[in-house]
Amino acid sequence: MKFMDLVLKRFSCRKFQNRPVEREKIIKCIEAARYAPSACNSQPWRFIIVDDPELKDRLAKTAISGIYGVINRFLPTAPAIIVIFADKEKFIAQVGGKVMGTDYYLIDIGIACEHLVLQATELGLATCYIGYFNEKGIKKLLGIPQKYKVILLMAIGYPDSIYTEENVKEMKIKNRKKLKDILYFNKFCSD
Ligand SMILES: Cc1cc2nc3c(=O)[nH]c(=O)nc-3n(C[C@H](O)[C@H](O)[C@H](O)COP(=O)(O)O)c2cc1C
Repeated sequence: MKFMDLVLKRFSCRKFQNRPVEREKIIKCIEAARYAPSACNSQPWRFIIVDDPELKDRLAKTAISGIYGVINRFLPTAPAIIVIFADKEKFIAQVGGKVMGTDYYLIDIGIACEHLVLQATELGLATCYIGYFNEKGIKKLLGIPQKYKVILLMAIGYPDSIYTEENVKEMKIKNRKKLKDILYFNKFCSD
């Protein structure tokens, strides 16, 4: 698949088929994530694949519990959830990050996740980034030590048939700012 086709094929899936995902496929996605660049090659990412149906259900319910339930109610329909977390105490790139006022580890995780989702897309899977969740509850449920921060959850599975390729492409083109509104040549231009 051509790269831009893959980019346009990826979308945020909020309805999944009730079908388990092959572990090899999810592992392949993590392999793609593992090769992502990171500041000082610090590779701050860690992943837990939760695909045991009972635990996955508990995880989804925990993630959307209390005030976190205002969105992401679809999460229990995902057959698997990847928990993406980072070691808060060991950011090699922390010093440079302090000077720049940039949390490089978040950029690193973002890049790794995009590798992950593009690989998933190529495998016929669909994903949804989840950035709003009950972190405390998840850490407790999965036994993630205090020093780690859960950055994202990734819902992953086979997309429901409502998502046709044409629909997805159309929706994406409609939902994006125009190139002319985000791109400048040589110097900033206010409009
Ligand atoms: C860091 C991050 C956090 C996100 N968190 C959520 C979320 O909690 N729930 C959700 O439904 N979508 C979430 N999204 C998905 C965005 O809403 C989605 O990417 C955006 O609307 C563009 O749509 P598309 O992914 O279909 O192209 C998140 C995306 C990113 C990158």
